[in-house]
Amino acid sequence: MLTSCTTDHPTSSDAPVANAHVAGELHAGLLAREAWISPKFLYDSLGSKLFEAICELPEYYPTRTEASIFERHGAEIARAAGANATLVDLGAGNCAKAASLFPLLQPAQYVAVDISTEFLCEALGRLRQRFPQIRMEGLGMDFSQRFELPPQVRQERRLFFYPGSSIGNFNPEEARAFLDRLRAQCGPDGGLLIGIDLAKDKAVLDAAYDDALGVTAAFNLNILRHVNTLLDADFDIRQWRHHGFYRPERGRVEMHLEARTAQEVRWRGGSRRFAAGERIHTENSYKYQQADAIALLERSGFEATRVWTDPQRWFAVIHAQAA
Ligand code: TRP
Repeated sequence: MLTSCTTDHPTSSDAPVANAHVAGELHAGLLAREAWISPKFLYDSLGSKLFEAICELPEYYPTRTEASIFERHGAEIARAAGANATLVDLGAGNCAKAASLFPLLQPAQYVAVDISTEFLCEALGRLRQRFPQIRMEGLGMDFSQRFELPPQVRQERRLFFYPGSSIGNFNPEEARAFLDRLRAQCGPDGGLLIGIDLAKDKAVLDAAYDDALGVTAAFNLNILRHVNTLLDADFDIRQWRHHGFYRPERGRVEMHLEARTAQEVRWRGGSRRFAAGERIHTENSYKYQQADAIALLERSGFEATRVWTDPQRWFAVIHAQAA
């Protein structure tokens, strides 16, 4: 499903009830031997706001580190990416990262895509007032699966913008398939500007995904509230606890929700008993070696033209060209 943001208000808000496809995916995950919920369900309107708060936390270094790279190397990044692009921002959220690059990048069109439709359209409405000279489109859709950009998105010079290391939320095979789809949609003159979180000290990663204030815990737990709405489920959020920790042997941070007590959860079309301590896996966040990230891009037909990092080499921003 695709919802366009019209000038001032979305044509529909976050769907209160899941369609058959979404319901089927949630149902299958909840009944799997190791239960899981796709991380895209973290992002309803409240989830998007909680994630905005995560980005302000002292422990959550990715947003700040990436922003410092954009700030320090913005002119070079813009030179590599080129002006007059069709800037397609995947998972745009509050659109702040792209907006910070507008003065340097000078896109011919800005296309903001996010699954959290209402939040996106509100952010885009404010952005249109700040940058009235830039043509903008807001698309509320799930781009983690196959997706097609509607005809109002220019074909020329498509520059996909995928910051924040969201690529790390796919496993390596999914990441490959996703990049293949971007490559197919960007044409011979297109490119990709991507942010990738690099492997680092476990203590830094553990803190980033389990902060002292508990904002990350609230963000992760909110997925249950969202599932309650989508599936008419009866998760008692107080009976669950957040876990986020780095597993260096798997190269990823894992996010789980753990049942504090034995309980039964019911939803439209199903139910499950969870034992005390049983977990629902909600997200992975893969941390890459720089060379592996570049190899991943190359396998999908992108050629890395430049890599920028911070002095600690915690995060990398890569510009890649359709090869
Ligand atoms: N894309 C973000 C990341 O992997 C999302 C995120 C941050 C997240 N903190 C989280 C997801 C905690 C689930 C739980 O860094």
